[in-house]
Amino acid sequence: MRRWMVAGNWKMHTTIGEAETISKAIKEGTKDIDKGEIVLAPPYTALYAVHKVIKDSHIALAAQNMYFQDKGAYTGEVSPIMLKDTGCAYVIVGHSERRKYFYEKDEEINEKVKKVLSTGLKPIVCVGETESEREKGITEFVVGMQVKKALFGVTDMEHIVIAYEPVWAIGTGKNATPMEAETVHRFIRHIIGDVYGDSVAQNLQILYGGSVTPDNIGALIAMEDIDGALVGGASLKAESFTGIIRKVAEKR
Ligand code: 13P
Repeated sequence: MRRWMVAGNWKMHTTIGEAETISKAIKEGTKDIDKGEIVLAPPYTALYAVHKVIKDSHIALAAQNMYFQDKGAYTGEVSPIMLKDTGCAYVIVGHSERRKYFYEKDEEINEKVKKVLSTGLKPIVCVGETESEREKGITEFVVGMQVKKALFGVTDMEHIVIAYEPVWAIGTGKNATPMEAETVHRFIRHIIGDVYGDSVAQNLQILYGGSVTPDNIGALIAMEDIDGALVGGASLKAESFTGIIRKVAEKR
């Protein structure tokens, strides 16, 4: 059985103080949970503070982005070595907000995925179609291309996590139905199987993201190919994030 994961993407929210308060409450509220994986992705400025709260605990740290060089004259960028130094184990790569607002392309996402892996960190690779792509019936084509391009040349699949986040479901309160999500998750597993073989595909963690709440996670996690969630808004309140984690731990 694949291990579940619930990751909280705090996006551009929280001061250091707020991040410490939320992470302490999440740590306290989940201290009895000894399976699966809980991940917090605060903004860069709060990474080290959250690391100090969760180090030696059952919770892992993630960054929301990075640049694919170790160091150099790249004003404003942060390297994976720096992220490892702050205690990160994971990096979210290719989130749709980065694709949309910062024009990240599949080729750059692929560079990032490879760099994250070669630094000894694990990428959470985000893919997902827009509303108009879904309406045109090209969801699988779009998601399939994103997956293949993000993983081009990657051999180390053991450390990859994929998050399927339909763009139309992010921050809208309109989550994909469990069956809609399951169909795409199964498709992703299928194309990974084609490229890497069945056992790699069966071991791959695929998370769902997009308006996940304590109320809708139960039906999503009951699906065979949904291994957890990448949570935005509901991860900013310890009570709702803990509620999601508890539901997942209960069902898996
Ligand atoms: P919401 O849970 O706020 O819809 O955000 C999902 C997301 O983008 C997580 O990366």
